[in-house]
Amino acid sequence: SVVAVIMVGGPTKGTRFRPLSLNIPKPLFPLAGQPMVHHPISACKRIPNLAQIYLIGFYEEREFALFVSSISNELRVPVRYLKEDKPHGSAGGLYNFRDLILEDNPSHIVLLNCDVCCSFPLPEMLEAHRSYGGMGTILVNKVSPESANQFGALVADPVTNELLHYTEKPETFVSDRINCGVYIFTPEIFTAIQGVSTQRKERATLRRVTSFEALQPANRSLPTDFVRLDQDILSPLAGKKQFYVYETRDFWEQIKTPGMSLKCSGLYLAQFRFTPPHLLASGNGSKNATISGDVYIHPSSKVHPTAKIGPNVSISANARIGAGARLVSCIILDDVEIKENAVVIHAIVGWKSSIGRWSRVQASGDYNAKLGVTILGESVTVEDEVVVINSIVLPNKTLNVSVQEEIIL
Ligand code: GDD
Repeated sequence: SVVAVIMVGGPTKGTRFRPLSLNIPKPLFPLAGQPMVHHPISACKRIPNLAQIYLIGFYEEREFALFVSSISNELRVPVRYLKEDKPHGSAGGLYNFRDLILEDNPSHIVLLNCDVCCSFPLPEMLEAHRSYGGMGTILVNKVSPESANQFGALVADPVTNELLHYTEKPETFVSDRINCGVYIFTPEIFTAIQGVSTQRKERATLRRVTSFEALQPANRSLPTDFVRLDQDILSPLAGKKQFYVYETRDFWEQIKTPGMSLKCSGLYLAQFRFTPPHLLASGNGSKNATISGDVYIHPSSKVHPTAKIGPNVSISANARIGAGARLVSCIILDDVEIKENAVVIHAIVGWKSSIGRWSRVQASGDYNAKLGVTILGESVTVEDEVVVINSIVLPNKTLNVSVQEEIIL
C-alpha cells in the first residue's frame, strides 16, 4: 500500500501570507473555492492502493478537526491530522510519526508540501520511481534562471535521471531545474533521517568534550531532532544513486504570498473547468448574471442578475454581490457584501468585508509584486465611491478616502 503525507507547517510559518493567515491556517485558505490542501488531497485519490493520508503540522488539532472529518467523508479516503509538539523540520516532522506511517508496512510514502500548486502527477511519478529503483524520486520543474535562487536547485543525469547535485536556495546560479516539493520515498528514507540525527548527537557530544569549539558560534548547531529534507538529506545524498528526478512540464507554482494564491486559484479553476452554471442557479435569480471564463460561486451566495463575473473569480459562502457589480480576477471570502456598481479587479476581499456603491478595489495584477494584488483583511469597510489601488488593508479598518500603493495598518 501507499501512505501520503502532506506537510502543513504551523502558525510561525507562512508569515508572508499575512494578513490572510491571521484568520485561518494558510493550508485552509480557499483556492478555487476549496481549501489549499484540498487540492493535493484530491490528487492523492488517484494513487493506486492508497491506504491513508496524514497531514503533519504544528497548528492546534482543533484548527484542522472540521476540515479533516469533512474531507474524509467527501472524498471517501481516511485523512488524519497529526500534531507535532514543535517544528522538527520537513524531514524531522515525517520521522516523528514514523511508527504510525509505517504501521501497515507501506511500500511507498508520498510526501507533499502543502504550499505548492500543480497537477500532482503522482501515479506517473510512482511508476517512474519504480523503474529508477532508488530511495526517492523528486518532482522537478524548469523555472527562469532569475527565480531559481528561491528554490532548491538541482542537477540530474539527463539519461538516468539520477540526482547528481542539490543546493537549497543557492546564492549563485546552479541550475534552472528546481525541487517542486513533491516526493515519492521508500521506507528507507527513515533510516536516512535517523542517520542525520545520530550524526548530530555524536557531534554534540564531541563538542561538549572539546569546550573551545563550543564557544564558536558557527558550531552552535540545530537540535538533533530537527532535520530538513533539502539541506540535510538531499544535498549530502545527491550523486549516490539514492535519489532520482521526474520532470513535469505542467503548471507549477509556490504559494507563499496572498498574490500568488490569487494566481493559483485561477490555475486550479482552469484545471477543473468547473465553471458550474448549476452552482449559480441556487434559486435566487443569480443564474442570469453574466459569467465569463472560469468562475466558482458557492451555492449559498447571492449574485444579482445584472452583475458581471469573471474570469478567475472565486466567491465563498454567503456573499452578496449587488446590481451592476463587476468582478474580475479576485477571491471573495465568506460573508462579504459588494454593493451596487462596485468594481473589484485583482484583489482578495477578506471575510465579512463590505465594499460600497460605485467603489473600486483593484491592483495591477502583478502577482510577484508586493502590492500587485489588493488585499483587504477581515471586516474591512470600503465606503461608497472610494478607490483602493495596489494596497493592503489590515483587518477591521474603515476606508472613507481613496488610497493607492499603501499598507493600512
Ligand atoms: N509539519 C511540519 N513541520 N511542516 C513543516 C516544517 C516543520 O517543522 N517545516 C516546514 N514544513 C512544511 C511547510 O509548511 C511546507 O509545506 C514544506 O514543509 C516546506 O517548507 P520549508 O521547509 O519552509 O521550505 P520552502 O517551502 O521554503 O522550500 C521547499 O519547497 C520548495 C518547493 O515549494 C524546499 O524543499 C525547496 O527546495 C523547494 O523548491
